[in-house]
Amino acid sequence: MCEKKDKTTMVQTKAHIAQNDKVGPGLYHLVCDCAVIAQRVLPGQFVHLRIPDDALLMRRPLSVSFAEEHLLHIFYKVVGKGSKLMSTLHKGDSVDVVGPLGNSFVLDYSCECAILLGGGIGAAPLIGLAKSTAQKKSAFVTLIIGAQDAQHHIFQPVIGELSDAVILATDDGSLGVRGLVSDVFFEMWKTRRLKTKKCAVYACGPRGMLAALHAFFEKESPDAVFWMSLEEKMACGVGACQGCVVPTVDGYRRVCVEGPIFDSRHILWGELNNNV
Ligand SMILES: Cc1cc2nc3c(=O)[nH]c(=O)nc-3n(C[C@H](O)[C@H](O)[C@H](O)COP(=O)(O)OP(=O)(O)OC[C@H]3O[C@@H](n4cnc5c(N)ncnc54)[C@H](O)[C@@H]3O)c2cc1C
Ligand code: FES
Repeated sequence: MCEKKDKTTMVQTKAHIAQNDKVGPGLYHLVCDCAVIAQRVLPGQFVHLRIPDDALLMRRPLSVSFAEEHLLHIFYKVVGKGSKLMSTLHKGDSVDVVGPLGNSFVLDYSCECAILLGGGIGAAPLIGLAKSTAQKKSAFVTLIIGAQDAQHHIFQPVIGELSDAVILATDDGSLGVRGLVSDVFFEMWKTRRLKTKKCAVYACGPRGMLAALHAFFEKESPDAVFWMSLEEKMACGVGACQGCVVPTVDGYRRVCVEGPIFDSRHILWGELNNNV
């Protein structure tokens, strides 16, 4: 399930950096003190962050992994100029943030089980989704997080009370189960006979992982509900420029407003740009 959020609730504000720690190879945990966004953000939503550098005019979209009181927790990977500069920010620096943006994941409690699949840094927004159920019905959720190896598994310190519901996977077998998140899930689908249950699946990760999951559901269980978070390059982040559209059965839809969370059955996969 995903929820539309009234975009008038978004704000633009200055946030102080409370922490910006390296937690893995090229991977960082950024904590921003930003009560006004932390109090309204929902799982799956993102912020648009302006890195304080004159050469970088465009904001960078980043998922809020989870919020705690006045703090926004963000995990990011250094991939280019903006994220590299971001990694040089220190506690006490301030950044300009717009958010919360986009729609959000909502768990469907009428289901028998919810399976959350996070590939690499893509697991970030699923932590908040899983945490939001921890006090309610924790046995209902299984979170599978995959990374290339043990060093790239960065979420254990924040999983806390969820640990019983979490399966870790690595491509090289250096931590947890060996294999891709999608393969671990396919095996679970068979052995736990999930096809016979009412399950909802929520995923965030590389485009190839989402495409493999979509193809699996199309073949094995076309009625299964599979929500996924899509990334597209963004300019305005608030619906004005049409720069982030994806093709859907209802025409083009903006990832920054109608997304980032989509029902995979609504996406025209054959036309989707596979570059991001
Ligand atoms: C809704 C959403 C949530 C995201 N959440 C996270 C997150 O939690 N952690 C994380 O590490 N990354 C996340 N990303 C990807 C992140 O925005 C890019 O990695 C980042 O913008 C790259 O900036 P750069 O300057 O380092 O890279 P460059 O490649 O130098 O960026 C050049 C331009 O392309 C854009 N761009 C490049 N890659 C992406 C991408 N994958 N998605 C969108 N725009 C991109 C940049 O914003 C910039 O405008 C998210 C993207 C979206 C759309
Ligand atoms: S980034 Fe401008 S419409 Fe989405």
